[in-house]
Amino acid sequence: MHVSKAVVPAAGLGTRFLPATKAQPKEMLPVVDKPAIHYIAEEVIDSGIEDLLIVTGRGKRAIEDHFDRSIELEHLLEDNPHLSELQSLLDRLQVFYVRQGRPLGLGHAIACAERHVDESDFAVLLPDDLYLGPEPALAQLLQAAEEFDAPVVAVREVEPEDVQRYGIIAPSSERLRDGAYRVQDMVEKPDLADAPSRLGVVGRYVLPSSIFRHLRATQPGAKGEIQLTDALRALCRERPVYAIEVRGERYDIGEPIGLLRAQIGFALARPDLAEGVRELLRQAF
Ligand code: G1P
Repeated sequence: MHVSKAVVPAAGLGTRFLPATKAQPKEMLPVVDKPAIHYIAEEVIDSGIEDLLIVTGRGKRAIEDHFDRSIELEHLLEDNPHLSELQSLLDRLQVFYVRQGRPLGLGHAIACAERHVDESDFAVLLPDDLYLGPEPALAQLLQAAEEFDAPVVAVREVEPEDVQRYGIIAPSSERLRDGAYRVQDMVEKPDLADAPSRLGVVGRYVLPSSIFRHLRATQPGAKGEIQLTDALRALCRERPVYAIEVRGERYDIGEPIGLLRAQIGFALARPDLAEGVRELLRQAF
């Protein structure tokens, strides 16, 4: 697999964060002092990809403004380190946009990327999943995609009560290296009793362009939406697909407690803030 493009679906309404998301995209909610989607862009660049397509929708214009120069700010704040950091990210990353006109599900959002991705293999990063660790989560997936010369999804063992919030894989009994599985089948948000394992897909995918053909044939599934998991399930029948457990701390910022956890985790990882945060936590609890 040769991957040179990344796709980030960011068209969701963010209803779990109302009223914070009434007038701003949930992807722009800050984690410490950067919008959540900024960490995703950093992960893309740190994994060696320079072409990022963001699938947006109504009310998402702040994302485009974020990944753009601000001549006024640059003029007012010459040599501001935060602005220069953003600028150097933008110098290395080309950001493109496409709008998902109708909210028909994750699979439909990914299908909107077809024109841009064309016949390339590509990466998908769900912005509700943030990772912290020495190696970017996506870089680990890209390595595995090269190792197996096949599509790869990121998985984690999830708690039994959380199984119905994830796409769950059915791993084959084939023994691969530690933390790697061949995917036999997948099911979106199953009941615990029907789940083929507790290995949930956690927001990172390396996919071939043939996924678009499967997406076109995918009918609405769980929650009445066109699910990426259902297209992947068809892909598994056509060619080998693998799953790896990515190393690093994962933060599910799709809900308020996860976002709070991410605030603390990301602040503790910052040398300039760690001491202050530890002190704050000691005092507060
Ligand atoms: C999506 C996917 C699901 C995956 C999850 C990871 O669900 O459909 O397969 O396990 O992201 O966070 P969502 O969280 O958008 O409902």
